[in-house]
Amino acid sequence: MRKIILIALPFIALLASPSTYEEGKRIYFSKGCNGCHGVSASGTNTYPALAFRRKPFLIYKLKRLRAKQGDTQLSQMMIPFAMGLNDAQIDAVTTFLSEYHEQESEKYCPDDSNTGGGSS
Ligand code: HEC
Repeated sequence: MRKIILIALPFIALLASPSTYEEGKRIYFSKGCNGCHGVSASGTNTYPALAFRRKPFLIYKLKRLRAKQGDTQLSQMMIPFAMGLNDAQIDAVTTFLSEYHEQESEKYCPDDSNTGGGSS
């Protein structure tokens, strides 16, 4: 019996859910947010930077956009992406963005594409 438990333990550990931060990071890249907001979430051209912004602001914005309430013409572009997120995903992705600490990871690749001469 004990042997079975010992064998099962590593698998149970693998099944444990990743941290909210890691989940948010996965959502950010799997849902294509990086395509507009950049691989370091530092914004590109007219797309706003998201890293290090306050979590309540990011949640407020995403929920408004999800309800198709945009303040600018550009927001029409963002609405379909906000609509693809449920509350838990918004929580995870805003945790990732507000606590952003990818620069500590070995794979950090500075994103300088926001110097492309956009208008914002
Ligand atoms: C097609 C390009 C595009 C993609 C992909 C995209 N966004 Fe956006 N996003 C925008 C634009 C444009 C705005 C600015 C909207 C406005 O001006 O109101 C924006 C605004 C935001 C804001 C509000 C920030 C602010 O300063 O107003 C958040 C938060 C956000 N996006 C998160 C995300 C997340 C999370 C994803 C992935 C699920 C994502 N975006 C995917 C284009 C995009």
